[in-house]
Amino acid sequence: MAVLGIESSAHTLGVGIVEKGKVLSNEKIMYEIGTTGIIPAKAADLHSGNIGIVLANALSKAGMTMKDIDAVGYTKGPGLGPCLRIGQLSALALSMRYRIPILPVNHAVGHIEATRQSFGAKDPIVLYVSGGNSQILGLVDEPFRHYHIFGETFDVGVGNMLDSFAREAKLNPAWGSSVAKLAEGGKYIDMPYTVKGMDFTFTGLLTSAVKKLGTNSARDVAYSMQETAFAMLCEATERALLLTKKNEILLSGGVAQSKRLGEMMRLMAESHAAKVFVAPNELNADNGAMIALVAEKMLQSGMKYSAKDCGTKQKYRIDTAEIRW
Ligand code: FE2
Repeated sequence: MAVLGIESSAHTLGVGIVEKGKVLSNEKIMYEIGTTGIIPAKAADLHSGNIGIVLANALSKAGMTMKDIDAVGYTKGPGLGPCLRIGQLSALALSMRYRIPILPVNHAVGHIEATRQSFGAKDPIVLYVSGGNSQILGLVDEPFRHYHIFGETFDVGVGNMLDSFAREAKLNPAWGSSVAKLAEGGKYIDMPYTVKGMDFTFTGLLTSAVKKLGTNSARDVAYSMQETAFAMLCEATERALLLTKKNEILLSGGVAQSKRLGEMMRLMAESHAAKVFVAPNELNADNGAMIALVAEKMLQSGMKYSAKDCGTKQKYRIDTAEIRW
C-alpha cells in the first residue's frame, strides 16, 4: 500500500511517497527567504506554480503513477493559511479524482512521528523546536491518546527568535543556522533568562540581544543569546523528564538541527541516564514523506475522513490531534 504526502505549511512544498514505513521518494522545492523572511502570499504562489512538477518528480522517483497510490495525506496545520491551502486543495483533488482516502495530518505530529519511527523510540519526551513552535511534549492516553503539552513558549518560537535576530544583525540567509555560525567563538554576556515551571518566553531575550547589538560585538551577542535560549529549553525539558519518569528525549523541528542544542541536551540527559535522539536533517526540515508516514499510520489504525473534515487550520494544536497507533 503506497501513501503520498503533501507538505506546504510554510516555505517548503514537499511531496513524499511511502510504503510500509519505507520512504520511496521525497521531493521538494523551497521558497528563498533571503533577508525578508517568508511572505505567505509569495510562498503560496511558488507552491501552486510547482505542485504539478514536484508531484510528478515524486511519482517518477518512486517508479509509480497516481494509479499506484492508495491514499493521500496533507498538512492540515499549523502553518500559513495561503501556503496550507495549496497542499490541502491538491490533496482533495487527488483524493476525488482517484477515489482514494484523504488524511489531514498535524505538521508537528509529522516531524515527531517520522523521527520516532525512524529511531524506534518508544515513549520519549519531545522537545519540538521550530520557527513558530517551542513545545515540550509527551504521549498520554487520557482522555484520548495524544501529545500532551507539558511546557511551551508564552510568546514566539525559538526559531522565530533566532530568525528575527538574524534579520536585525543583517545575516543572509536570515535564519538560525546563520546565527549559529556567527556565534562560534563568542564570549558570554549577561542575558535575561525566563523559565516558569516548564514554560518559557523568548521576546525579552530577543529585545535585549537586539539592544546589545549596538554596543557589543555581534558574535558575543549571538553566542550569548543562543546559549541562554538553549539553556532555558534544557532546564524545562529536564523538569518534564523527571516529572514523567520517561527515559528518552527526542529533539525535533528545524531548530533541533542545532549542534549546540544537541550537545547541551546530551549533557543534561547523561546525568539521568536518558537517551537523546536527534531527528536527522531530512526529517527536521519540512518534507512530504513525514506527512505520508503519519497518513499511513492513520490509515492503518482505521482513521477515516470525509472531504468536509479536510480543511486547513492555521493554529492546529498538537494536543488536539489523536494518535491512535
Ligand atoms: Fe516544520
